Amino acid sequence: MDTPPTPLTQLVSHFINRSRDNQPSEWTELWNHDKSYFWDRTGPSPALIDWIESQSEISQPHPNYRPIALIPDCGKGYDVIMLALHGFDAYGLEISQRAIQMAEVNAAAQFCEPSSYNFGSSKASRSIKYRGNVKFIQGDFFETGWEKQIATENFQGFDLIYDYAFLCALPPDLRKDWARRMRELISPVGVLACLEFPLYKDLRALGPPWGLKDVYWNILAEGGDGIMSENSIQDTRMLEGSFQRVAYFKPPRSYENGKGTDMFSVWKPKI
Ligand SMILES: C[S@@+](CC[C@H](N)C(=O)[O-])C[C@H]1O[C@@H](n2cnc3c(N)ncnc32)[C@H](O)[C@@H]1O
Repeated sequence: MDTPPTPLTQLVSHFINRSRDNQPSEWTELWNHDKSYFWDRTGPSPALIDWIESQSEISQPHPNYRPIALIPDCGKGYDVIMLALHGFDAYGLEISQRAIQMAEVNAAAQFCEPSSYNFGSSKASRSIKYRGNVKFIQGDFFETGWEKQIATENFQGFDLIYDYAFLCALPPDLRKDWARRMRELISPVGVLACLEFPLYKDLRALGPPWGLKDVYWNILAEGGDGIMSENSIQDTRMLEGSFQRVAYFKPPRSYENGKGTDMFSVWKPKI
């Protein structure tokens, strides 16, 4: 008897035989046909919450300054809202206008009555002094221009960017551009945090999600192209990545389908 397709296999099927040049419109189509359940996890990232709550110098660096954060593929906005509830001015970018509308509705509800899922511990929720703002922007991560909507004087880049399920959503040949764009968008003293998923998936298997074992290291630390197939071993001796990894650990909590295999990595730009 055939086993029914899972949401993730349905996602892979959607992209089979579609042009890789049309990725943004493919995602928009999925949103417009209410297919976000293929990937949506219905709440913010437990791994990100736990890390933020352990890093008070990032979320509350100075009483007169609210750090600014970016989620480059914000979906329904869960992580953006959670970061605002932890004191960030948080921006969510999305290619899909429909996702933006859903995120705005979600933010209005959560700001009235935040769900307990936004906090790792009740102590953390009580100790947060300031709530930040959220802003959702419709735009393409790879294009410039949308940054003009950042409501901060003298914008010098984001203090925090979080990647989850964005790199793995992109065709492998865009990985190098993802790393270059991250370097452009991060502040010289900012951090890029990544929940690395899926690390269990064969690198040759079709995505999205595309398997990412060793890919973040290759594109960020080594300056490689992230195309990790066994037939094209890269000689990275002459290359240099534009980030250095400052933390790397298995998060105690993560989403169900990455539990036990996801890794959390934190990167600072090389100056
Ligand atoms: C796998 S989903 C993950 C969404 C969200 N991070 C989450 O965990 O629910 C990938 C998201 O990236 C968005 N996306 C794809 N390409 C994009 C691009 N070039 N710029 C901005 N968003 C993009 C899609 O619309 C989709 O919502």
